[in-house]
Amino acid sequence: MPPKLTDLITLARQAGDILRTSFGQLLQVDHKGVIDLVSDADWRSEQFIISYIHQHFPGDTIITEESGVLTGSADHAWYIDPLDGTINYVHGLPIYSVSIAYAEGGELCLGVVYDPMRDECFSAEIGKGAWLNGQPIHPSLTPDLDHALLVTGFPYDIRTNPDNNLDHYAHFALRSQAVRRLGSAALDLCYVACGRFDGYWELWVKAWDVSAGGLIAREAGAVVTNMAGEDDFISPPQSILAANPHIHPLMLHGLKR
Ligand code: IPD
Ligand code: CA
Ligand code: CA
Repeated sequence: MPPKLTDLITLARQAGDILRTSFGQLLQVDHKGVIDLVSDADWRSEQFIISYIHQHFPGDTIITEESGVLTGSADHAWYIDPLDGTINYVHGLPIYSVSIAYAEGGELCLGVVYDPMRDECFSAEIGKGAWLNGQPIHPSLTPDLDHALLVTGFPYDIRTNPDNNLDHYAHFALRSQAVRRLGSAALDLCYVACGRFDGYWELWVKAWDVSAGGLIAREAGAVVTNMAGEDDFISPPQSILAANPHIHPLMLHGLKR
């Protein structure tokens, strides 16, 4: 039996409780790169999620940020980011989330992003819509870039990668109302889904960062593509552009300039 959306919601809420309990406490932090961190909270949340899936859905593939790919049936795959917003979390900045998506036969079907600090649970099921704590959500109606509040992110190799998004950031900073950088790609997408942001783009994201949020934004009514304008935002080389239907073509034009 495949999972139901309620299974993902229960799981994300329980993992979020683990994160909230340790938030603001002294953490064991390891460096994956100069600015790329992993804390014991990431590990505890991830281990909890993996054990739940192993127990209830044995044989499924699990693609996680910290443990890598746990290979199982290719037709039943989970994408897990146990803590999206690690740098914020480690600094005591209360903007972070748990992101869980489920794909069947290569198609994203279910997605949940949970923000433990605000008790906001975003969810979506393919073909059925997207919700915030059970209420339907929709993107903004903002018609043009002058009135658009955008958000983006930057890769961990920003210091060495020439394609580090600073050029696009400068472009949109001069053409939108403002550009934010919150530090949780999953929440960036959910905030497009519910109209708090009008558009989000980022390069070099990973499947676990954007699969749940991408489905939530799309099901809410936003246009979600990669930065070439193609529907597939999961396959590498990964990039993502999610925006309300008026803003998406304007941003795509700007990104392709
Ligand atoms: C990061 C966040 C950030 C985004 C980075 C991600 P992490 O995930 O989503 O907003 O800009 O690309 O790697 O490391 O906090 O899980
Ligand atoms: Ca992430
Ligand atoms: Ca993470």
